[in-house]
Parts: sequence; structure tokens; C-alpha cells
Amino acid sequence: MEMADAYPDVVIGCAGGGSNLAGISFPFIADKLAGKTNTRFIAVEPEASPSLTKGEFTYDFGDAIGTTPLFKMHTLGHTFVPNPIHAGGLRYHGMAPLVSALFDAGVYEAKAYHQNACFEAAILFASTEGIIPAPEPTHALKAAIDEALEAKETGEEKNILFHLCGHGHLDLSAYDNYFSGDMVDYALPSEAIAEAMKSVPQIG
Ligand SMILES: Cc1ncc(COP(=O)(O)O)c(C=O)c1O
Repeated sequence: MEMADAYPDVVIGCAGGGSNLAGISFPFIADKLAGKTNTRFIAVEPEASPSLTKGEFTYDFGDAIGTTPLFKMHTLGHTFVPNPIHAGGLRYHGMAPLVSALFDAGVYEAKAYHQNACFEAAILFASTEGIIPAPEPTHALKAAIDEALEAKETGEEKNILFHLCGHGHLDLSAYDNYFSGDMVDYALPSEAIAEAMKSVPQIG
């Protein structure tokens, strides 16, 4: 950003376990917590695996079979079985404890999208920038496009920084699926979350 002689007004990353989001946003969050800036931070997840937008902030295991220590994090329950969306890296049941704590403190906003909307954004990006994104960052991309469209509407000038955390050269079958019209948007029933949340250890 220094090379571009700019500072972001909004920082956006997709969020599976939270690592790429933390990498792109923590340095700017440090500035915000020091009271120097007023940047917004957006974590974007799939509707099919919504640990921030629909999970609970509690102690849970980091793995599916319950062998790790307990972490305080946003979780859908460690036995949660996600639908087979193309963004395989975003299907984790939990979220990094530091990202979870910052979300709980109101530093991160979070939003969730269905995969068809994300691939529509990816096609626009690939046709305009010549880069094919991996299915995971298409979520960040969709949120970045939405921010840009909103700014266009309000006439506000905004520096939007989003993290393109992987290319999609090995995900062309997902694009084929999208173009064939076979891509499914999975709505996650609240009963499925409630069932998996029963696996969360009771601490008391
Ligand atoms: C390209 C890509 N982006 C994002 C993720 C999600 O992980 P994280 O949220 O920890 O960055 C993965 C995970 O496999 C990935 O492969």
C-alpha cells in the first residue's frame, strides 16, 4: 500500500480458518486499535460454512474428532459436516481464536455469500484483470465488488484492499460446473448447526 501511496479504507479477506484474513488485516488493525485510522475489516465466508455469521463464540475442539486442546473461537460445532462447495478451504467448522476475538470485539464485520454469486464475481474479475481466482478468494472478491458498487452509488471515494489468496488454475472443473449451470447454492438449515453444536464440550 505504501508503494501505491495509499491506505485502505476497507480490508477484505475470505475466512476459512482465518489465516489469510489475519495476514492481510492484522497490520492495519494494529493502526486502528492505536486510534490512528478508521479502516473497516470484512471477513467473508460461504453460506454453507458460516462460523462467524451463524456460529457461537465458545470453547471447542479445533479438529473434527476432538483431539486438540479447546480453543475459544466461533464454531459451528466440531462434528459439523459441510456441504461439498467448491471453496474446500472455507469448509472448516471453526475460526482462528484471534480473528474470533476481534470479531466479538466488533473490529471485524462478517458476511456470507452463496457460491454462484461468488463465481459470477470471479468471471467479472477474470475477464477484466486476466487472473482466474481460486474458489476461496472469490468470496472476498464478491464483497470487494459489492463495496465498490456501493461507493459508486454514494459517490464516496474508497480504497478497497482485498486478498487474492490463491489462483484457480487447479479449479477449472469448478468453473466448468458454474458455466454448465450445475452449481448448487447450499442453504444451511439451522437444525444442522444445532445438531453439530451439541458436540461442543460443556464447560462449567
Ligand atoms: C486458496 C485458499 N484460500 C483460503 C483458504 C482458507 O484458509 P484461511 O481462512 O485459513 O486462510 C484456503 C484453505 O485451504 C485456501 O486453499
